[in-house]
Amino acid sequence: MHCIQNYTPSTAMNKQFDFQSQKTPAYVYDLSLLDQTLKAIQTEASFYGYQIHYALKANNNALILERIANQGFGADCVSGNEITEAVKRGFSPQKIAFAGVGKTDEEINTALNHSIFSFNCESLPEIEIINELAKKKQQIAPIALRINPNVNANTHRYITTGLEENKFGINIWEIEGILERMSELKNVRLKGLHFHIGSQITDLDTFKNLCNRINLLQEDFYARQIIVEHINVGGGLGINYHQPDLETIPDFKSYFKIFHDFLALRPMQKLHFELGRSVVGQMGSLLSKVIYVKKASAKSFLIIDAAMTDLIRPALYQAYHKIENISSKSQETEKYDVVGPVCESADIFAKAVDLPVSKRGDFILIRSTGAYGQVMASNYNMRDNAQVVFID
Ligand code: LLP
Repeated sequence: MHCIQNYTPSTAMNKQFDFQSQKTPAYVYDLSLLDQTLKAIQTEASFYGYQIHYALKANNNALILERIANQGFGADCVSGNEITEAVKRGFSPQKIAFAGVGKTDEEINTALNHSIFSFNCESLPEIEIINELAKKKQQIAPIALRINPNVNANTHRYITTGLEENKFGINIWEIEGILERMSELKNVRLKGLHFHIGSQITDLDTFKNLCNRINLLQEDFYARQIIVEHINVGGGLGINYHQPDLETIPDFKSYFKIFHDFLALRPMQKLHFELGRSVVGQMGSLLSKVIYVKKASAKSFLIIDAAMTDLIRPALYQAYHKIENISSKSQETEKYDVVGPVCESADIFAKAVDLPVSKRGDFILIRSTGAYGQVMASNYNMRDNAQVVFID
């Protein structure tokens, strides 16, 4: 682990960043930006008394988890291993929410052993198994029903989760039957309602639609004389991938205000969020080096030492990440397809990017890669894992 001094997120023209000595590819994590982001979230959320769970799936680096846990955040986990890791890094088990459509018996037992805050349940068979396993331990498991609100998140189809066609959650027409069955199950207790409609949502009106849908649902529950203790609206707040320096910290103020203005919470009901990308997305960059510049008849390829094995988002979701050459001194620009070395045509970070004229050995920075970057890496082609570098 190295420490680079004098780095700022706005790196394009920054000549002080000691990137020359770095082994590449490397994930560069700006811990001071993380701290500022955490502070902004806590300030805005505590204004309304909201509880934030950090979604470990976005980035599970130990040091980063410890920093987030230290600030009093809860955790949103999607596997038994994430629960174990969250506890190890200092998250209170009483602030751990456990989501996922396919929780195994072993994972449920792990969660029961830690007496977590909530099992966010996605089907009746799952609730029945949790009841059975909790009974064996003479426990009563806290349940939140993950309801599929059928709200369109207007984001990439692979990260849309709140439509009936998606595998996630309980459909509204199933609720009645599930509540009836739950009344017979003695080792589970309904504590909350959970929603998560998708990720990288940049149009805040989408969250208004979610609030309206939850309000209607709450009316139905009220008519059945049910008021749950908490509502969990998941995550999904997007970040500015196109101009990361304009918005290094997402607009948490406006985001939380939407829920305050449009969600009709019942007295004593607490609102929870599960934020991933908006917490860690902008604090990470993927540093890479140009191996070759390859001229083709119509264009040039910049072949860099980072690949889809380090960052799969462009290949998987056609995701945009800002790319900068931070070492070229050229005043002229050229169009490049920026590609990795892996034997797959999809190993492309971006096509036709305008960059200063680049050469072998130049350093390339792929921005906004703190979330869903390193965690989705693979060793395909027997490639090494990227280095990890912290700036503090
Ligand atoms: N809660 C639940 C139930 C989730 O499924 C997710 C993300 C989150 C919270 C956190 O969402 P966030 O605040 O990060 O949007 N690999 C994809 C993103 C997958 C998101 C999966 N669920 C990507 O690289 O865009």
